[in-house]
Amino acid sequence: VELDHTGFEHHMLKEIYEQPDALTNTLRGRLREGSDKVTLGGLSLIARELPRTERMLLMGCGTAWHAGLIGEYLFEELAGIPCEVEYASELRYRNPIVLKNTLAVAVSQSGETADTLAALREVQTRGARVLGVVNTVGSTIARETDAGVYLHVGPEIGVASTKAFTAQVAVLAMMALDLGRRRHLSPERTVALAEELMTIPDKIRTALDLDDEVKALAEKLVERDNWLYLGRGVNFPAALEGALKLKEISYIHAEGLPAAEMKHGPIALIDDGMPVVVIAPQDHTYEKVLSNIEEVKSRKGRVIAVVSEGDTEVCRIADECLYVPKTEPLLSPLVTSVPLQLLAYHCAVLRGLDVDKPRNLAKSVTVE
Ligand code: G6P
Repeated sequence: VELDHTGFEHHMLKEIYEQPDALTNTLRGRLREGSDKVTLGGLSLIARELPRTERMLLMGCGTAWHAGLIGEYLFEELAGIPCEVEYASELRYRNPIVLKNTLAVAVSQSGETADTLAALREVQTRGARVLGVVNTVGSTIARETDAGVYLHVGPEIGVASTKAFTAQVAVLAMMALDLGRRRHLSPERTVALAEELMTIPDKIRTALDLDDEVKALAEKLVERDNWLYLGRGVNFPAALEGALKLKEISYIHAEGLPAAEMKHGPIALIDDGMPVVVIAPQDHTYEKVLSNIEEVKSRKGRVIAVVSEGDTEVCRIADECLYVPKTEPLLSPLVTSVPLQLLAYHCAVLRGLDVDKPRNLAKSVTVE
């Protein structure tokens, strides 16, 4: 095994571990203790228009689309703006209706994804203001958008996106706070959320301590070829993202679902020992998720639960529990995603696969 100069075997693992520092860079200068002001310099040119926003449209592909789905909860909850999330590749071939005062957001790590670029051009010509949530400075999407917010997480080399995902979610959270504050969000709630966001790098650091536990878990489960990932609310997109990581680098078939949808079909798949990863932090969906876990257990599925520290209920029925620090429910995917990234990573390594360059995939898809 070749180690790079930082001592990590793979870029992906290095990037997973970089997340506390990467997110600190994403948040730096944009939030302050005790302040309800969110300073997003890249939006200053259009700041006066922002309060007029009546509708939001988030666009992206792959992992960026998952971050957008979390953004939908954030914008609706914190800013009270109806929000839609579209696969860029679908949006561009439809006849998208762009109402006046629509703020569109193109989410892209590389800033070069052909479908995302085409979708942003399409809605721009239909009158939407388009913002970019991009990592690569000077990329095509960054140049073609009207304004935007950079992730500032440094280059991401591993094909499976990790630190860019958590940074996209953090940026969307800051944008939702900014828009919310310009509308009806109270200063107190804004300060509370901003301060909680500033604790996330440390909480991710704590979640990274699960690495050995997750590796041991991967050793037990790696032979299984079909997995489910369940979550509710903001952790439904986190479940989709967890499943995508496993598919991308381990070539294991996995499906992410809103936990309550399981009973409308996918529950038929559950057989003896099927791994079912359930994201179950203590939020308003907790009791419901508990009963979803019971449904899986009664069909002999093997439940791997990601729960909040101090949880006593889920771990009584789940087969395995991974404890992550508690946070504000809306921000929880920033923490719950971390053990799922590690789980996909260890499964891929155990299967002897090329973690950083999985078959058939490219880091940036610049063809249509
Ligand atoms: C490719 C990558 C994915 C990524 C997607 C969007 O398919 O393999 O990891 O999420 O493109 O990339 P972007 O650079 O636009 O975020």
